[in-house]
Amino acid sequence: MSSNLTIQSTLKLNSGYEIPALASAPIEQAESCVREALTAGYRHVDSAVGYRNEAPCGKATRDFASPSSSGDEAVTREHVFFTSKVRPLKLSYESAKTQVDATLAETGLGYIDLMLIHAPYGGPEARKGAWRALVEAVDAGKVRSIGVSNYGVHHLDELEAYIQELGAERGGGQGKGGIISVGQWEVHPWLPRDDIVDWCRARGIAVEAYCPVVRGERAGEQVLQGARGQILIRWSLQKGHVPLPKSVTPSRIKENANVYDFEISQEDMGKLETKEYSPCAWDPTTSPLDK
Ligand SMILES: NC(=O)c1ccc[n+]([C@@H]2O[C@H](COP(=O)([O-])OP(=O)(O)OC[C@H]3O[C@@H](n4cnc5c(N)ncnc54)[C@H](OP(=O)(O)O)[C@@H]3O)[C@@H](O)[C@H]2O)c1
Repeated sequence: MSSNLTIQSTLKLNSGYEIPALASAPIEQAESCVREALTAGYRHVDSAVGYRNEAPCGKATRDFASPSSSGDEAVTREHVFFTSKVRPLKLSYESAKTQVDATLAETGLGYIDLMLIHAPYGGPEARKGAWRALVEAVDAGKVRSIGVSNYGVHHLDELEAYIQELGAERGGGQGKGGIISVGQWEVHPWLPRDDIVDWCRARGIAVEAYCPVVRGERAGEQVLQGARGQILIRWSLQKGHVPLPKSVTPSRIKENANVYDFEISQEDMGKLETKEYSPCAWDPTTSPLDK
């Protein structure tokens, strides 16, 4: 797959939808960053309730999908994959249900491509309730695909068991308990998360990689040579992940998408197998089930 990668490359999700393999993941200056990214060819926007960036990300997406702004009549809402995440604070069925409706209102988009539970905090009932709300949002046509972020394998096992339970409660049948399409974690050569990635791969779940350029903290690593950010994004793509680089710098937004005219050799991919466990962001994956 890797040598055939292009900026149009997508992964097929368990939900049946396709996810573009490279995303724009802005925090600050979100509207201009998303506008810049969509113009540079990105077709995937990662936002979150917790980042308070749904409105500017939604506006840039709506504007771009309107022919009078993008100048491209062929681009419609369907061409941009839009993600948001349910805030982990006071997670529950009610909070997740309310947030999906708020996300639709904030973004002004008719549907959300992907809604994730941002982190596994709050205990089993909170996590299960939030999942049920997302399953109902899919049934209602508000959201197309659902998944989780920052879940450890123990949280994923709990969710898998709950999906069976919920499916039976909702009359059985394929997908009645919900389908995990995507998981999002901090993943890079210094945090490969083989256990979680293997769990997902065995079930066809797409792995999104946040902090793909390790917040620039590994700039001194010899193995990265000159093109550090690009090598790390390319590493992520060649691993089959969906990297989510963040940049407010227009030249870097373009540079981070300019990763399709070279390939990291098997030998160099091997040099990037560090087996380290060195997060640069928070790490809710280790949180116990009752927290
Ligand atoms: N699910 C979660 O819990 C979670 C947690 C953290 C992050 N995320 C998502 O992942 C996104 C990215 O994470 P992140 O910002 O923490 O880490 P990151 O993308 O690895 O790093 C971003 C930092 O690296 C710089 N940078 C970007 N491209 C570069 C390049 N080519 N060369 C050198 N430096 C470069 C940026 O600087 P400039 O902006 O100054 O250009 C910024 O300071 C976030 O925006 C968010 O959407 C999700």
